[in-house]
Amino acid sequence: MSSMVSLASKLAVASLLVHKAAGSSEFNWSHIEPSWDLEYTPCYDGLQCARLLLPLDWLNPRDELNATVAIAIAKLPAKVGADHDSFGGTVITNPGGPGDSGVVHMIKNGHFLQSMVDGNRHYEVLSFDPRGIFYSTPIANCYENEADGDLAEWQMRGFGLLDGSTQQLRRRRAHATARGQRCAEADKGQSSIREFMSTASVARDMLAIVDKIEASRSAALAKATRQGGHDDSAQRLELRSQSANKRAEARLQYFGTSYGTFLGNTFLSMFPGRVHRMVLDGLVVGEEYVDLDWSTNLADTAHVVDYFYQSCFEAGPYCPLWRAFDMSWSTIKSRVDKLVADLDANPLAIANTDGPETVITGDEIRIAMMDPLYAPLDLFEGLATLLHDALQGNYTLLLQRTGITGHRDTCSASRALAYTWMDQASMAVRCGDAKDVTDRDLAFWGAYAQKLGNLSADIGGLWVEVPFACSGWKTRPKYRYDGPFTSPEHDPAAIHSGRPSAPLLLLSSLYDPVTPLRSAAKVARGHPGSRVLLQKSVGHCAFLSAPSECTKRYVRDYMDTGRLPPEGTECEPDCSPWWPCPVERAHLPR
Ligand SMILES: *[C@@H]1O[C@H](CO)[C@@H](O)[C@H](O)[C@H]1NC(C)=O
Ligand SMILES: *[C@@H]1O[C@H](CO)[C@@H](O)[C@H](O)[C@H]1NC(C)=O
Ligand SMILES: *[C@@H]1O[C@H](CO)[C@@H](O)[C@H](O)[C@H]1NC(C)=O
Ligand SMILES: *[C@@H]1O[C@H](CO)[C@@H](O)[C@H](O)[C@H]1NC(C)=O
Repeated sequence: MSSMVSLASKLAVASLLVHKAAGSSEFNWSHIEPSWDLEYTPCYDGLQCARLLLPLDWLNPRDELNATVAIAIAKLPAKVGADHDSFGGTVITNPGGPGDSGVVHMIKNGHFLQSMVDGNRHYEVLSFDPRGIFYSTPIANCYENEADGDLAEWQMRGFGLLDGSTQQLRRRRAHATARGQRCAEADKGQSSIREFMSTASVARDMLAIVDKIEASRSAALAKATRQGGHDDSAQRLELRSQSANKRAEARLQYFGTSYGTFLGNTFLSMFPGRVHRMVLDGLVVGEEYVDLDWSTNLADTAHVVDYFYQSCFEAGPYCPLWRAFDMSWSTIKSRVDKLVADLDANPLAIANTDGPETVITGDEIRIAMMDPLYAPLDLFEGLATLLHDALQGNYTLLLQRTGITGHRDTCSASRALAYTWMDQASMAVRCGDAKDVTDRDLAFWGAYAQKLGNLSADIGGLWVEVPFACSGWKTRPKYRYDGPFTSPEHDPAAIHSGRPSAPLLLLSSLYDPVTPLRSAAKVARGHPGSRVLLQKSVGHCAFLSAPSECTKRYVRDYMDTGRLPPEGTECEPDCSPWWPCPVERAHLPR
């Protein structure tokens, strides 16, 4: 799932629920030879994959070792050829995390993304695994083998989520320090990928990808011209390329969700003159993120939790948690809150024979709630069933959600293909992007945990894991951008202007559990002329919360013309939780 994320629940559920690419068994990335140019190989189902070599260190691109990264790229070709009049170029996308795989995003959501941008023009949609992440190499895995990584995660789980007790905080802090130190020393003296994973480096990679795309289109033109200048399509390509040359430098078209909005904002702030179109959905406030302030994220979380119970009450018999005697949604909420409190007070012994024995506490329910708050349309019903069962004393679904059940075979091939180091990759990005907090004392972290707990009783304790993981992170990035997050006014005729060619389009859902609407307004202030489109759905990003033909219409028009929706535009979702809408549900992004 795309994210700012399920990150927290992934931290807690650990890498036991590993990210496994759909259809990954059909494609082996090590069979592609990394190249300095974009050379594509067919992959997955109708995608094209490439491994692009780029310098490891952009501040010193030709160091003595010529050290490189190989960026894994996947694209869904446009519905028309590059020589067609309606070809709109490439839209680059990033799913968030940080740490999420762009390749997996393309496998799961490439067609949905294309349907968002394709209107009068047809676009190629492209994503990539940022450096250190999944299919890009080298990988930011702190452990030499999966068993070590697993054992580390099991210890983490044993400590429990931060609960405000000083004794637990001491242990957790010491563990975070040990982990940060271990990761910093993992490469044994060699230059570490973790020093080069901050968003500044990723934005610079994205600029290089834009240039490589332009270079390969020019090369295709040269080839087509050589093969017969009389060819109609070659002439059209030539015209297209000349106009591109007049534009002097290739420009980015971008759609970013969640952490992907921070990547977009960074790119726009660093290279404003290289932006053609930019849509950011589910906003992270740059200044807060680099300050390691993860509190304002939770401004609307309680509304999303309430919405779960309210919409369940309204759905009545369609919601498994509803009882005929319920007079209001709050009685449903009270039942669940009581279950959580009971499990906190009296953890349940699970003498599981299908896998190891374990305990269930209130934390397991909090963790189970996290992902559904991101994607209500997709996951509310499953959450209601899980909670209903738990209230009846059946914990089967909750146990499955924890990832503890089932016997593990650490040698299996599917295991070898799994993305087990997402948590570590994510830390390298977000802790490196943030200021150094390794000198903060226990009182600081205690107050931080309390502040987030006050903001959301349901997920504050989970969310604090995100900044807390940085408390012991030792590695500092060589290249870091921490602001200002601003750009000059756009210039539609932009040639050498150093200005974006369109203003920024920002999308937000009404209530977002981790990137609230007010964050979109804050980001807009740094970018004159930008505008927020409000999609009146609940969940993380307009994109994940619900499909909306209305939103798509404005996004397509913006992509095509650079025109923003009118000030104050609001879009209704096409479907809401508990409604059947099978057509919309069949194509939900995840
Ligand atoms: C991928 O290919 C490489 C080289 O041929 C091989 O060593 C590796 O085992 C393959 N990986 C998987 C998961 O099949
Ligand atoms: C060194 O890096 C440059 C690009 O920075 C590349 O063109 C060149 O081929 C590299 N050399 C080797 C030996 O890999
Ligand atoms: C518990 O729930 C699971 C999953 O819904 C179901 O398969 C199982 O039959 C239930 N067990 C009992 C004893 O009802
Ligand atoms: C959290 O709430 C409690 C109780 O209302 C209050 O005493 C405490 O000061 C708050 N802590 C922070 C850090 O906001």
